[in-house]
Amino acid sequence: MSAQLIDGKAFAEGLRHKVAALAAAFEGKAGRKAGLAVVLVGEDPASQVYVRSKGKQTVACGMASFEYKLPVTASEEELLALVEQLNNDRSVDGILVQLPLPAHLDEQKVIATIDPDKDVDGFHVINAGRLAVGQPGFVPCTPLGCLMLLKDRLGDLSGLDAVVIGRSNIVGKPMAQLLVAESCTVTVAHSRTKDLPAVVHRADIVVAAVGRPEMVKADWIKPGATVIDVGINRLPPEPGQDKGRLVGDVDFTGVREVAGAITPVPGGVGPMTIAVLLRNALVAAYRNEGLELDPDAL
Ligand code: GUN
Repeated sequence: MSAQLIDGKAFAEGLRHKVAALAAAFEGKAGRKAGLAVVLVGEDPASQVYVRSKGKQTVACGMASFEYKLPVTASEEELLALVEQLNNDRSVDGILVQLPLPAHLDEQKVIATIDPDKDVDGFHVINAGRLAVGQPGFVPCTPLGCLMLLKDRLGDLSGLDAVVIGRSNIVGKPMAQLLVAESCTVTVAHSRTKDLPAVVHRADIVVAAVGRPEMVKADWIKPGATVIDVGINRLPPEPGQDKGRLVGDVDFTGVREVAGAITPVPGGVGPMTIAVLLRNALVAAYRNEGLELDPDAL
């Protein structure tokens, strides 16, 4: 029997509708729109696409979008000065500096300069620490989106065995923290893990975030497991095509025959990231104005 498809695109649309309703309520109470600032340094084509999409979706949700584009030659002082200016700007609730930055700029230093209460990416060490100890803060958008899809599908996650493949600061590590907080038994696997197929085979929940096309195979998966595929990889073009296929870190065709539920690529985790970013920006706005927001509303 084939796995149920987890429709991240539809879930993200529902989340954006909730954000839009609460953004309108925020504007009524605060007398201003919630504001998200996005900073792009240089002209990386993929980053330009993301930033444009973020700006459009921010406005579509009834929030103010502030876009700052710096040349690839921008100095660290210039970038840090812009971040400081946004930290002090009352109309800006959330700040996102698009990564990767050009090589001459120190990403950790830039992230450390963002006010943790405007860090809607959840990348600041203060927010990583808050997540680790269970204090309210901002959680990175992609893993939070994955958790929302898991809870929507499975309800209570407590006691389930979860394997996270990948240990990045942006996805793997925060994903593991979120699952621990939901009382899962969590294993973080990575490139040095011994017998990865056997480790993955124990899991009720598999989150794959390694950036290796179609690495996770059908015979690794426990029948009925829920599989969340964070990977977005472009395969080399087939003869006669100008672009290769987009695939995840999971061999979708094989794994869907074994799993209980699986996210497709595209249309699974991908659309969740920006929707959660907008959610985080709205939460930031309510907090910055000292307004109550029902945590179950989003
Ligand atoms: N580049 C790719 N994804 C992201 C993201 O979620 N946040 C930031 N700041 N940069 C990114």
